[in-house]
Amino acid sequence: EKGEYRHYMLKEIHEQPAALRDTLTGLFTEDRVLTAILGPEAEKRLHEVQNIHIVACGTSYHAGLVARYWIEDIAGLACNVEIASEFRYRRVAVPANTLLVCISQSGETADTLAALRHARHEGYLATLAICNVPGSSLAREADWRLLTKAGPEIGVASTKAFTTQLAALLWLSAALAQTHGAPPEITGEIVRALHGLPTQVEQALQQDADIQRLAERFANKQHTLFLGRGPLYPIAMEGALKLKEISYIHAEAYAAGELKHGPLALVDESMPVVSVAPNCQLLEKLKSNLEEVRARGGQLINFACETADMQDQDGITHIHMPWVNSCIAPILYTLPLQLLSYYVALVKGTDVDKPRNLAKSVTVE
Ligand code: F6R
Repeated sequence: EKGEYRHYMLKEIHEQPAALRDTLTGLFTEDRVLTAILGPEAEKRLHEVQNIHIVACGTSYHAGLVARYWIEDIAGLACNVEIASEFRYRRVAVPANTLLVCISQSGETADTLAALRHARHEGYLATLAICNVPGSSLAREADWRLLTKAGPEIGVASTKAFTTQLAALLWLSAALAQTHGAPPEITGEIVRALHGLPTQVEQALQQDADIQRLAERFANKQHTLFLGRGPLYPIAMEGALKLKEISYIHAEAYAAGELKHGPLALVDESMPVVSVAPNCQLLEKLKSNLEEVRARGGQLINFACETADMQDQDGITHIHMPWVNSCIAPILYTLPLQLLSYYVALVKGTDVDKPRNLAKSVTVE
Protein backbone atom coordinates (compact mmCIF):
# COMPACT_ATOMS: atom_id res chain seq x y z
CA GLU A 1 0.00 0.00 0.00
CA LYS A 2 2.94 2.32 0.53
CA GLY A 3 3.71 1.83 -3.16
CA GLU A 4 6.92 3.55 -4.17
CA TYR A 5 7.25 5.20 -0.76
CA ARG A 6 9.39 3.93 2.07
CA HIS A 7 6.95 5.05 4.75
CA TYR A 8 3.30 5.97 5.02
CA MET A 9 4.32 9.35 6.35
CA LEU A 10 6.23 10.21 3.17
CA LYS A 11 3.38 8.90 1.04
CA GLU A 12 0.89 10.97 2.98
CA ILE A 13 3.05 14.10 2.71
CA HIS A 14 3.04 13.64 -1.07
CA GLU A 15 -0.71 13.01 -1.14
CA GLN A 16 -1.40 16.53 0.08
CA PRO A 17 -2.08 18.16 -3.31
CA ALA A 18 -4.79 15.56 -4.03
CA ALA A 19 -6.12 15.67 -0.45
CA LEU A 20 -6.48 19.44 -0.67
CA ARG A 21 -8.14 19.25 -4.07
CA ASP A 22 -10.68 16.73 -2.77
CA THR A 23 -11.33 18.72 0.41
CA LEU A 24 -11.92 21.96 -1.46
CA THR A 25 -14.15 20.51 -4.18
CA GLY A 26 -17.68 21.88 -3.94
CA LEU A 27 -16.86 24.58 -1.38
CA PHE A 28 -16.71 27.54 -3.77
CA THR A 29 -17.67 28.96 -7.08
CA GLU A 30 -14.89 30.78 -8.90
CA ASP A 31 -14.89 33.64 -6.43
CA ARG A 32 -17.64 33.02 -3.85
CA VAL A 33 -17.90 30.77 -0.84
CA LEU A 34 -20.70 28.18 -0.94
CA THR A 35 -22.11 27.90 2.57
CA ALA A 36 -24.84 25.41 1.59
CA ILE A 37 -22.40 22.58 2.30
CA LEU A 38 -23.25 23.05 6.00
CA GLY A 39 -26.98 22.69 5.40
CA PRO A 40 -29.96 24.79 4.30
CA GLU A 41 -29.96 27.12 7.32
CA ALA A 42 -26.21 27.69 7.31
CA GLU A 43 -26.15 31.07 5.58
CA LYS A 44 -28.54 32.55 8.13
CA ARG A 45 -26.90 30.92 11.15
CA LEU A 46 -23.39 31.91 10.10
CA HIS A 47 -24.61 35.46 9.80
CA GLU A 48 -25.67 35.31 13.47
CA VAL A 49 -22.28 34.12 14.72
CA GLN A 50 -20.45 36.76 16.74
CA ASN A 51 -17.80 34.65 18.49
CA ILE A 52 -15.98 31.43 17.77
CA HIS A 53 -14.55 28.92 20.25
CA ILE A 54 -12.26 26.27 18.82
CA VAL A 55 -11.37 23.10 20.71
CA ALA A 56 -8.96 20.31 19.68
CA CYS A 57 -5.86 18.31 20.67
CA GLY A 58 -2.30 18.07 19.35
CA THR A 59 -1.85 18.83 15.69
CA SER A 60 -5.54 19.64 15.29
CA TYR A 61 -5.14 22.22 18.07
CA HIS A 62 -2.37 23.84 16.03
CA ALA A 63 -4.76 24.10 13.09
CA GLY A 64 -7.15 25.91 15.44
CA LEU A 65 -4.44 28.35 16.49
CA VAL A 66 -3.81 29.30 12.86
CA ALA A 67 -7.55 29.71 12.36
CA ARG A 68 -7.74 32.29 15.13
CA TYR A 69 -5.45 34.59 13.13
CA TRP A 70 -7.57 34.06 10.03
CA ILE A 71 -11.00 34.44 11.66
CA GLU A 72 -10.10 37.62 13.53
CA ASP A 73 -8.26 39.11 10.57
CA ILE A 74 -10.56 38.11 7.71
CA ALA A 75 -13.98 37.99 9.38
CA GLY A 76 -13.32 40.40 12.26
CA LEU A 77 -14.92 38.03 14.78
CA ALA A 78 -13.50 37.18 18.19
CA CYS A 79 -12.01 33.70 18.38
CA ASN A 80 -10.67 31.65 21.30
CA VAL A 81 -8.78 28.40 20.88
CA GLU A 82 -8.32 25.83 23.63
CA ILE A 83 -6.91 22.37 24.18
CA ALA A 84 -9.86 19.99 24.59
CA SER A 85 -8.57 18.38 27.79
CA GLU A 86 -8.56 21.82 29.44
CA PHE A 87 -11.85 23.04 28.04
CA ARG A 88 -13.82 19.99 29.13
CA TYR A 89 -12.97 20.42 32.81
CA ARG A 90 -13.62 24.09 33.35
CA ARG A 91 -16.47 26.50 33.38
CA VAL A 92 -16.31 28.39 30.11
CA ALA A 93 -17.88 31.81 29.69
CA VAL A 94 -19.82 31.60 26.45
CA PRO A 95 -20.83 34.96 24.95
CA ALA A 96 -24.10 35.15 23.01
CA ASN A 97 -24.03 33.77 19.48
CA THR A 98 -20.89 31.71 19.83
CA LEU A 99 -20.08 28.93 17.38
CA LEU A 100 -18.15 25.98 18.82
CA VAL A 101 -15.74 24.34 16.37
CA CYS A 102 -14.23 20.95 17.25
CA ILE A 103 -11.34 19.83 15.05
CA SER A 104 -10.28 16.20 14.89
CA GLN A 105 -8.79 14.00 12.20
CA SER A 106 -10.20 10.79 13.69
CA GLY A 107 -13.35 12.20 15.22
CA GLU A 108 -12.81 9.76 18.09
CA THR A 109 -10.32 11.61 20.31
CA ALA A 110 -11.77 11.19 23.80
CA ASP A 111 -11.07 14.71 25.04
CA THR A 112 -12.39 16.45 21.92
CA LEU A 113 -15.54 14.35 21.95
CA ALA A 114 -16.02 15.02 25.67
CA ALA A 115 -15.54 18.75 24.98
CA LEU A 116 -18.35 18.66 22.40
CA ARG A 117 -20.63 16.83 24.84
CA HIS A 118 -19.67 19.17 27.68
CA ALA A 119 -20.60 22.12 25.48
CA ARG A 120 -24.09 20.82 24.77
CA HIS A 121 -25.62 22.62 27.71
CA GLU A 122 -23.49 25.74 27.55
CA GLY A 123 -25.65 27.77 25.21
CA TYR A 124 -23.64 27.65 22.01
CA LEU A 125 -25.40 28.89 18.91
CA ALA A 126 -24.26 25.83 16.96
CA THR A 127 -21.49 23.23 16.94
CA LEU A 128 -19.32 22.38 13.95
CA ALA A 129 -17.08 19.32 13.62
CA ILE A 130 -14.12 19.56 11.24
CA CYS A 131 -13.31 15.95 10.79
CA ASN A 132 -11.66 13.47 8.40
CA VAL A 133 -13.86 10.46 9.20
CA PRO A 134 -17.48 10.92 8.06
CA GLY A 135 -19.10 8.33 10.35
CA SER A 136 -17.06 9.21 13.45
CA SER A 137 -18.69 10.06 16.77
CA LEU A 138 -17.66 13.71 16.51
CA ALA A 139 -19.04 14.09 12.99
CA ARG A 140 -22.31 12.46 14.03
CA GLU A 141 -22.84 14.45 17.21
CA ALA A 142 -22.12 17.99 16.01
CA ASP A 143 -24.85 20.17 14.47
CA TRP A 144 -22.71 20.80 11.38
CA ARG A 145 -19.84 18.93 9.82
CA LEU A 146 -17.18 20.07 7.43
CA LEU A 147 -15.36 17.01 6.20
CA THR A 148 -11.73 17.04 5.23
CA LYS A 149 -11.12 14.54 2.43
CA ALA A 150 -7.57 13.55 3.23
CA GLY A 151 -8.34 9.84 3.00
CA PRO A 152 -7.08 7.36 5.59
CA GLU A 153 -4.03 8.60 7.47
CA ILE A 154 -1.92 5.66 8.61
CA GLY A 155 1.25 7.36 9.84
CA VAL A 156 0.86 8.29 13.49
CA ALA A 157 2.27 11.76 12.81
CA SER A 158 -0.51 13.77 11.24
CA THR A 159 0.39 15.44 7.93
CA LYS A 160 -2.29 15.56 5.23
CA ALA A 161 -5.02 15.73 7.87
CA PHE A 162 -3.46 18.93 9.21
CA THR A 163 -3.16 20.80 5.90
CA THR A 164 -6.69 19.83 4.89
CA GLN A 165 -7.95 21.05 8.28
CA LEU A 166 -6.24 24.35 7.57
CA ALA A 167 -7.88 24.56 4.15
CA ALA A 168 -11.29 23.87 5.74
CA LEU A 169 -10.65 26.52 8.39
CA LEU A 170 -9.64 29.11 5.80
CA TRP A 171 -12.89 28.28 4.01
CA LEU A 172 -14.75 28.84 7.31
CA SER A 173 -13.01 32.20 7.82
CA ALA A 174 -14.04 33.28 4.33
CA ALA A 175 -17.58 31.94 4.88
CA LEU A 176 -17.89 33.98 8.09
CA ALA A 177 -16.51 37.06 6.36
CA GLN A 178 -18.91 36.65 3.44
CA THR A 179 -21.97 36.16 5.63
CA HIS A 180 -20.95 39.23 7.65
CA GLY A 181 -20.87 41.43 4.58
CA ALA A 182 -17.16 41.56 3.79
CA PRO A 183 -16.40 43.19 0.43
CA PRO A 184 -16.31 40.59 -2.36
CA GLU A 185 -12.66 41.48 -3.11
CA ILE A 186 -11.65 40.15 0.31
CA THR A 187 -13.39 36.80 0.03
CA GLY A 188 -12.63 36.59 -3.70
CA GLU A 189 -8.89 36.82 -3.02
CA ILE A 190 -9.06 33.97 -0.50
CA VAL A 191 -11.14 31.80 -2.79
CA ARG A 192 -8.69 32.32 -5.66
CA ALA A 193 -5.73 31.58 -3.38
CA LEU A 194 -7.41 28.33 -2.31
CA HIS A 195 -8.08 27.38 -5.93
CA GLY A 196 -4.35 27.69 -6.63
CA LEU A 197 -3.23 25.97 -3.45
CA PRO A 198 -2.96 22.32 -4.59
CA THR A 199 -0.62 23.29 -7.44
CA GLN A 200 1.51 25.43 -5.16
CA VAL A 201 1.76 22.60 -2.68
CA GLU A 202 2.99 20.38 -5.52
CA GLN A 203 5.72 22.92 -6.23
CA ALA A 204 6.72 23.20 -2.59
CA LEU A 205 7.13 19.42 -2.41
CA GLN A 206 9.81 19.64 -5.08
CA GLN A 207 12.13 20.99 -2.37
CA ASP A 208 12.39 17.47 -1.04
CA ALA A 209 16.09 16.98 -1.94
CA ASP A 210 17.23 20.32 -0.45
CA ILE A 211 15.51 19.51 2.81
CA GLN A 212 16.89 15.99 2.89
CA ARG A 213 20.41 17.45 2.74
CA LEU A 214 19.68 19.66 5.76
CA ALA A 215 18.58 16.72 7.88
CA GLU A 216 22.17 15.54 8.46
CA ARG A 217 22.76 18.63 10.55
CA PHE A 218 20.27 17.45 13.15
CA ALA A 219 21.67 13.95 13.52
CA ASN A 220 23.60 14.53 16.74
CA LYS A 221 21.58 17.43 18.15
CA GLN A 222 19.57 17.21 21.37
CA HIS A 223 17.48 20.35 21.11
CA THR A 224 16.00 22.58 18.43
CA LEU A 225 14.16 25.87 18.46
CA PHE A 226 11.41 26.77 15.98
CA LEU A 227 10.41 30.39 15.40
CA GLY A 228 7.54 32.03 13.59
CA ARG A 229 5.38 35.12 13.76
CA GLY A 230 1.66 35.69 13.26
CA PRO A 231 -0.14 32.70 11.74
CA LEU A 232 3.25 31.12 11.12
CA TYR A 233 3.83 30.87 14.87
CA PRO A 234 1.45 27.89 15.21
CA ILE A 235 3.16 26.42 12.15
CA ALA A 236 6.45 26.61 14.07
CA MET A 237 4.66 24.80 16.94
CA GLU A 238 3.52 22.12 14.54
CA GLY A 239 7.04 21.78 13.11
CA ALA A 240 8.40 21.33 16.63
CA LEU A 241 5.76 18.72 17.49
CA LYS A 242 6.50 16.74 14.32
CA LEU A 243 10.23 16.71 15.06
CA LYS A 244 9.72 15.61 18.67
CA GLU A 245 7.24 12.93 17.73
CA ILE A 246 9.20 11.10 15.10
CA SER A 247 12.88 11.89 15.69
CA TYR A 248 12.77 12.20 19.51
CA ILE A 249 14.77 15.42 19.34
CA HIS A 250 13.53 17.94 21.85
CA ALA A 251 12.03 20.88 20.00
CA GLU A 252 10.28 23.99 21.22
CA ALA A 253 8.51 26.69 19.31
CA TYR A 254 8.44 30.37 20.17
CA ALA A 255 6.81 33.39 18.71
CA ALA A 256 9.86 35.12 17.29
CA GLY A 257 9.27 38.21 19.41
CA GLU A 258 9.58 36.12 22.59
CA LEU A 259 13.15 35.08 21.86
CA LYS A 260 14.80 37.72 23.96
CA HIS A 261 12.40 37.11 26.84
CA GLY A 262 14.13 33.87 27.75
CA PRO A 263 14.92 31.25 25.12
CA LEU A 264 17.82 33.21 23.66
CA ALA A 265 19.79 32.04 26.71
CA LEU A 266 19.70 28.52 25.26
CA VAL A 267 21.14 29.42 21.88
CA ASP A 268 24.69 28.33 21.17
CA GLU A 269 26.46 26.48 18.36
CA SER A 270 24.85 23.18 19.32
CA MET A 271 21.29 24.49 18.96
CA PRO A 272 19.83 24.59 15.46
CA VAL A 273 17.11 27.20 15.03
CA VAL A 274 14.47 26.77 12.35
CA SER A 275 12.35 29.71 11.30
CA VAL A 276 9.43 30.18 8.94
CA ALA A 277 9.25 33.67 7.48
CA PRO A 278 7.17 34.22 4.36
CA ASN A 279 6.94 37.59 2.71
CA CYS A 280 4.68 39.27 5.18
CA GLN A 281 4.93 42.61 6.87
CA LEU A 282 6.57 40.96 9.87
CA LEU A 283 9.58 39.84 7.90
CA GLU A 284 11.78 42.80 8.79
CA LYS A 285 11.20 42.19 12.48
CA LEU A 286 11.97 38.54 12.17
CA LYS A 287 15.20 39.42 10.38
CA SER A 288 16.53 41.14 13.50
CA ASN A 289 15.56 38.12 15.65
CA LEU A 290 17.47 35.94 13.26
CA GLU A 291 20.54 38.15 13.62
CA GLU A 292 20.40 37.65 17.37
CA VAL A 293 20.55 33.90 16.91
CA ARG A 294 23.42 34.10 14.46
CA ALA A 295 25.42 36.44 16.71
CA ARG A 296 25.36 33.70 19.36
CA GLY A 297 26.75 31.06 17.06
CA GLY A 298 23.37 29.41 16.49
CA GLN A 299 22.88 27.55 13.22
CA LEU A 300 19.89 29.02 11.53
CA ILE A 301 17.70 27.45 8.88
CA ASN A 302 15.18 29.89 7.49
CA PHE A 303 12.30 29.06 5.17
CA ALA A 304 11.53 32.26 3.28
CA CYS A 305 9.80 33.40 0.14
CA GLU A 306 12.05 33.57 -2.89
CA THR A 307 11.11 37.24 -3.25
CA ALA A 308 12.34 38.06 0.28
CA ASP A 309 15.90 38.64 -0.92
CA MET A 310 17.72 36.86 1.87
CA GLN A 311 21.17 35.54 1.07
CA ASP A 312 22.98 32.70 2.78
CA GLN A 313 25.71 33.84 5.11
CA ASP A 314 27.81 32.32 7.79
CA GLY A 315 25.47 30.41 10.07
CA ILE A 316 22.29 31.08 8.05
CA THR A 317 20.83 28.81 5.41
CA HIS A 318 17.79 30.03 3.51
CA ILE A 319 15.46 27.63 1.80
CA HIS A 320 13.48 29.55 -0.78
CA MET A 321 9.79 28.86 -1.02
CA PRO A 322 7.60 29.81 -3.99
CA TRP A 323 5.70 33.07 -3.59
CA VAL A 324 2.14 32.60 -2.33
CA ASN A 325 -0.67 34.83 -1.21
CA SER A 326 -0.06 35.41 2.51
CA CYS A 327 -3.42 33.87 3.49
CA ILE A 328 -2.24 30.41 2.40
CA ALA A 329 1.37 30.74 3.59
CA PRO A 330 0.68 28.79 6.82
CA ILE A 331 -0.43 25.82 4.71
CA LEU A 332 2.49 25.99 2.31
CA TYR A 333 5.16 26.43 4.99
CA THR A 334 3.94 23.33 6.80
CA LEU A 335 5.30 21.13 4.03
CA PRO A 336 9.04 21.75 4.42
CA LEU A 337 8.71 21.25 8.18
CA GLN A 338 6.99 17.89 7.65
CA LEU A 339 9.74 16.84 5.25
CA LEU A 340 12.44 18.05 7.61
CA SER A 341 11.16 15.98 10.52
CA TYR A 342 10.75 12.98 8.23
CA TYR A 343 14.32 13.12 6.95
CA VAL A 344 15.76 13.80 10.40
CA ALA A 345 13.93 10.69 11.65
CA LEU A 346 15.43 8.69 8.77
CA VAL A 347 18.91 9.85 9.72
CA LYS A 348 18.21 8.86 13.33
CA GLY A 349 16.73 5.52 12.33
CA THR A 350 13.55 5.84 14.37
CA ASP A 351 10.27 4.13 13.56
CA VAL A 352 8.74 6.90 11.47
CA ASP A 353 5.22 5.54 11.07
CA LYS A 354 4.89 4.23 14.62
CA PRO A 355 6.83 6.42 17.01
CA ARG A 356 7.41 4.91 20.44
CA ASN A 357 4.71 5.42 23.11
CA LEU A 358 2.17 6.94 20.71
CA ALA A 359 -1.14 5.72 19.30
CA LYS A 360 -2.84 7.02 16.19
CA SER A 361 -6.10 7.71 17.88
CA VAL A 362 -6.26 8.68 21.56
CA THR A 363 -9.65 7.29 22.54
CA VAL A 364 -8.93 7.25 26.26
CA GLU A 365 -8.15 10.18 28.50
C1 F6R B 1 0.43 14.58 16.01
C2 F6R B 1 -0.86 13.94 16.11
C3 F6R B 1 -1.69 14.15 17.33
C4 F6R B 1 -3.17 14.33 16.96
C5 F6R B 1 -4.04 14.41 18.21
C6 F6R B 1 -5.48 14.70 17.86
O1 F6R B 1 1.07 14.31 14.81
O2 F6R B 1 -1.27 13.24 15.22
O3 F6R B 1 -1.24 15.25 18.07
O4 F6R B 1 -3.29 15.47 16.18
O5 F6R B 1 -3.94 13.21 18.92
O6 F6R B 1 -6.00 13.71 17.03
P1 F6R B 1 -7.34 13.93 16.24
O7 F6R B 1 -7.07 15.02 15.22
O8 F6R B 1 -7.66 12.61 15.60
O9 F6R B 1 -8.37 14.37 17.22
